[in-house]
Amino acid sequence: MSGDIVCKAAIAWAPNEPLKIEDVRVAPPRAGEVRVRVAFTGLCHTDVYTLSGSDPEGMFPAILGHEGAGVVESVGEGVTDVSPGQNVILLYTAECRKCKFCLSGKTNLCQAVRATQGRGVMPDGTRRFTSVRTGEELYHFMGTSTFSQYTVVSQYSLVAVDPKAPMDRTCLLGCGVTTGYGAAVYTAQVEHGATVAVWGVGAVGLAVIYGAKERGASRIIALDTNPGKRKWAEEFGATDFINPRDIPALEGGGDPVVAKLVELTDGGLDYTFDCTGNVKVMRTALEACHKGWGVSTIIGVAAAGEEIATRPFQLVTGRRWQGSAFGGVKGRTQLPGIVERYLGGSFKIDEYVTHRATLDQVNDGLEWMHSGECIRCVIDMS
Ligand SMILES: NC(=O)c1ccc[n+]([C@@H]2O[C@H](COP(=O)([O-])OP(=O)(O)OC[C@H]3O[C@@H](n4cnc5c(N)ncnc54)[C@H](O)[C@@H]3O)[C@@H](O)[C@H]2O)c1
Ligand SMILES: [Zn+2]
Ligand SMILES: [Zn+2]
Repeated sequence: MSGDIVCKAAIAWAPNEPLKIEDVRVAPPRAGEVRVRVAFTGLCHTDVYTLSGSDPEGMFPAILGHEGAGVVESVGEGVTDVSPGQNVILLYTAECRKCKFCLSGKTNLCQAVRATQGRGVMPDGTRRFTSVRTGEELYHFMGTSTFSQYTVVSQYSLVAVDPKAPMDRTCLLGCGVTTGYGAAVYTAQVEHGATVAVWGVGAVGLAVIYGAKERGASRIIALDTNPGKRKWAEEFGATDFINPRDIPALEGGGDPVVAKLVELTDGGLDYTFDCTGNVKVMRTALEACHKGWGVSTIIGVAAAGEEIATRPFQLVTGRRWQGSAFGGVKGRTQLPGIVERYLGGSFKIDEYVTHRATLDQVNDGLEWMHSGECIRCVIDMS
């Protein structure tokens, strides 16, 4: 087996500091592990969130990044599912097909590597990244660490896909696009003719809109406090766009957005989705659901310590509250099919990419994400 590889990575030395592009030594994969040359990575809000220091699981110094695609460089002992040279998508939601969760048929939340992933180490408890400058070991992140030109992951944290698919697009299937699409199609299972409302028109919200449209929703109402998101929402299939700030307060009190949506949809929505991470929005999204059957799906990640609230009567009267992680998608089983659909022209990915950058510009990319103009920024890791 090959030895260490020295390459460039963007290192998060401490919370709230810019990432530093430096040399890292990447150890070879051990049993059950795979070393991957990362070709492209998207930037996602979870990277920004962890870098901000608010993530209770955030460990420093670390190599962040979790929306990546690349090529298998070498495999450790016992790895049979992938081989060197294959194009892969990295999976922060692993799939082992053996744990209680994988076998339940009820969830995509594989637990095989979860505990060690949360501690920033490989399943055997050790790390594969060392800073060349300081000699310090660096933590892994979300089991993927895609902000490095080479990374080492568990064999359950990646999936081989059709090499015809360009990796600067397939990387987005590693998080945002799959998350939103899957939440609509697999978690909520929006049905033909249903009414849908989606809060937050980022990549995740757009993918929800796209999934709901594919399922034949009759009305898709997008809500965003940034009026610039209207054109985006409409392009992906929204029938209506509402800026919640444009809705005047109600004289008798109460949530004006709920009242407006209930009026527009004759009693409320069949399906609503939070893609903002704002707990007040989550409440509005639940309460805007139709009595008796409306289902609200939380996708957004709230800041540490936040809690959701509603009156229990909202649930007693038949509204349901649920969440979705990685769109309920089992990465190793389902992503190859989505890639084939992309190649066949029946699944959108290209349209989410608004910005491109090199690894040296990764801090600029993280900055662009705050602008509201950026849906997804893809980093060329070469
Ligand atoms: N559950 C998962 O598996 C998963 C995976 C990826 C991302 N996420 C989360 O999904 C959320 C969306 O991610 P994204 O990459 O699309 O983010 P984004 O920042 O690109 O988009 C969020 C959008 O929400 C809008 N917004 C903010 N506050 C609002 C409010 N009060 N009302 C209406 N709109 C509001 C913003 O203007 C923005 O357009 C984030 O919280 C992210 O952490 C969850
Ligand atoms: Zn993400
Ligand atoms: Zn599992």
